[in-house]
Amino acid sequence: MKKELLSDRVGLVDASGIRKVFALAAELDNPVNFSIGQPDFDVPEELKDAAIAAIRQGANRYSQTAGDEQLLERLKGRMREEYGWGEPAVLVTSGVSGGLLLAFMAMINPGDEVIIPDPYFVIYKYVVRMLGGKCVFVSSYPTFRLPVEGIAAAVTDRTKLIIVNSPNNPTGAVYTEQELRAVAEVAERHGIPILTDEIYERFCYEGPCASVARFYERSLVLGGFGKSYGITGWRLGYAAGRGPMRAVIEAMTKLQQYTFVCAPTPFQRAAVAAMDCEVGGYVEAYRRKRDLLCDGLAEAFEVVRPGGAFYAFVRAPGDRATAFVERAIKNNVLVIPGNVFSEWDTHFRISYATSDAEIERGVRILRGLV
Ligand SMILES: Cc1ncc(COP(=O)(O)O)c(C=O)c1O
Repeated sequence: MKKELLSDRVGLVDASGIRKVFALAAELDNPVNFSIGQPDFDVPEELKDAAIAAIRQGANRYSQTAGDEQLLERLKGRMREEYGWGEPAVLVTSGVSGGLLLAFMAMINPGDEVIIPDPYFVIYKYVVRMLGGKCVFVSSYPTFRLPVEGIAAAVTDRTKLIIVNSPNNPTGAVYTEQELRAVAEVAERHGIPILTDEIYERFCYEGPCASVARFYERSLVLGGFGKSYGITGWRLGYAAGRGPMRAVIEAMTKLQQYTFVCAPTPFQRAAVAAMDCEVGGYVEAYRRKRDLLCDGLAEAFEVVRPGGAFYAFVRAPGDRATAFVERAIKNNVLVIPGNVFSEWDTHFRISYATSDAEIERGVRILRGLV
């Protein structure tokens, strides 16, 4: 009897959109690369030194499952100071992606529904699906504000979780405290936890980033180091919860023991140094890049000025994003079609984590296409 080599699960993931972009891109000579999902600045020297020192000093074996003791203490301190929590439970994860997998594994049963504002970070959709969960998308077009009414209307008795990602990938939207309080009210009414993905928390251009975790007890915080310090390859993130959410952190820790085992040990040590490292200068530079991009595109495109992260989600001419992206790539600008992050294909994502000269060059080319 012929046996299938691959599981059905693999068929649930469709990477064709992004593969097509990269296949087209491979043929280009010196393209403007607006597709990169990480900062363009180099890792701060003190962090490189801390990682090298950690390796030299022998921090090369497994750490505790939950993470390096010193790093855990620092992260708990941050949750107390910045979120006003009493007794935080924290787990160090292999990137925020590792945290997402463990969080969904810990909470989602087949048939459970997860409410996800659309557009969304693409991993949510595929991992929820792989676990047999059902994604319930709620449109945040065209303003990309948190769609609180839509979320309230989408709640059913199968709703297990609401995902909030601010600053947002791919829109760059930063939700206000008022919006977050409104969604917390909806969640509280039904006793639904909120997973708050705060990986871009440092990249906030109009004042400090509000977090639902400050006032909603059933918040599960996922945070990361990769984007803040340009160390995406170090695979470091954390998950934190208080009150009833401590049980989720404990479950995630149990699951980590038999999957990731631990986050990379020397980089966990270096992350302690990262927590003392100032990145405000980079953030200021990115605010200027955002303005350079948005001002440059404003006359030719419909673009909501993003408040954070390093992305803009721009409306494609005629609402036909894939067709427009193919033209952009043929003209040497790499952008990503909206259907990679959405159930719609009307917008495209620009990452402005690149040099000012490249932003200007890319804007000139894109303007020439409309
Ligand atoms: C919103 C969001 N969450 C999570 C991640 C994953 O981050 P990590 O590299 O820490 O796994 C990303 C990466 O692009 C992201 O944009």
